[in-house]
Amino acid sequence: MRLLVTGGAGFIGANFVQQTVATRPDVSVTVLDALTYAGNRASLDSVADKIDFVHGDIADLDLVDNLVSGVDAVVHFAAESHNDNSLAEPWPFVQTNIVGTYSLLQAVRRHEVRYHHVSTDEVYGDLTEEDPAFTENTAYNPSSPYSATKAGSDLLVRAWTRSFGVKATLSNCSNNYGPFQHVEKFIPRQITNLIDGVRPRLYGAGHQIRDWIHVDDHNRAVFDILERGRIGQTYLIGAQGELDNLTVVRLILEAFGRPADDFDHVTDRPGHDQRYAIDASLLREELGWEPQYADFRAGLANTIAWYRDNEDWWRPKKAETELAYATAGEKTL
Ligand code: NAD
Ligand code: TYD
Repeated sequence: MRLLVTGGAGFIGANFVQQTVATRPDVSVTVLDALTYAGNRASLDSVADKIDFVHGDIADLDLVDNLVSGVDAVVHFAAESHNDNSLAEPWPFVQTNIVGTYSLLQAVRRHEVRYHHVSTDEVYGDLTEEDPAFTENTAYNPSSPYSATKAGSDLLVRAWTRSFGVKATLSNCSNNYGPFQHVEKFIPRQITNLIDGVRPRLYGAGHQIRDWIHVDDHNRAVFDILERGRIGQTYLIGAQGELDNLTVVRLILEAFGRPADDFDHVTDRPGHDQRYAIDASLLREELGWEPQYADFRAGLANTIAWYRDNEDWWRPKKAETELAYATAGEKTL
């Protein structure tokens, strides 16, 4: 199988490419990535001689048409992915997440190429603590420009499938953690703060809940859906990893041997979603998928070890990321 992976220099895409190269010698991979602030060519160093890398924009219709004409399937990870950035400047989110997805859909439609669309549970909005978890039938109700543009891209995929017969599947996954995640995101930000001797930064009281899944478990599910999923079907991906942010900060502090209250409360995010939770029954029952990282503490320990061992990878981004948070007005409460 010849596979085009968009966003393969980002967090989840790079882990997907590494996993595919390691486990599937029958698959040849081409990565298309614009190398935005979130993309890092070094994340693909370990597989550089085993893949083709194209530096380009998914919204470039001619480039995308040409690349899609030479593959059997597309797995679409490329996106603007950070909620806080979408609140500061929404336009790149509209351009990449919506226009970029349009460009890919037109190409897979024209060349009759299989397409898998990687999305997020944030399209469903948020839950109270009493609500049941999201399912494939939950109504879309996004809160931020990030989740709204991901929701818009999902709806384009559904329309292209129904109206034009595009052979697409979709997956909506909960919050990922693991190696190669940008230091702007919650878990790597706190780990790298602690490596630098800086206190973790918790938004507000830290009672918001996220449903954590290791990136490798997400990516195995994506491959299962690509190969065995039903065309037109959405699959939710989650590993029953619900934890509130305060607990996650305390687990990271514990792993560093620091006191449980050794962190700062900082300005909360406007419109902050309270809780996400995934019911992955369809994926488990239909495709037989099971997470391999059942123990969050162990997965977190591996992730912390990776950031300790790979300072060269994250160090160049750290100061500019913290400056961006300060410039956006983040203050210690
Ligand atoms: P990321 O921000 O780490 O990586 C995004 C990648 O896309 C980068 O390499 C970037 O250079 C590339 N990119 C951005 N705009 C592009 C464009 N116009 N053309 C080509 N490449 C472009 O994101 P991530 O966390 O790896 O997320 C990947 C996908 O998974 C996204 O679609 C995201 O919505 C989805 N998702 C993420 C999570 C999570 O917890 N991170 C959870 C569920 C779903
Ligand atoms: P994030 O990694 O940005 O993912 P998302 O917004 O997609 O859930 O944030 C995860 C949670 O952590 C979210 O509730 C916001 C919170 N958070 C902090 O408390 N401190 C931080 O420094 C960051 C970046 C996030």
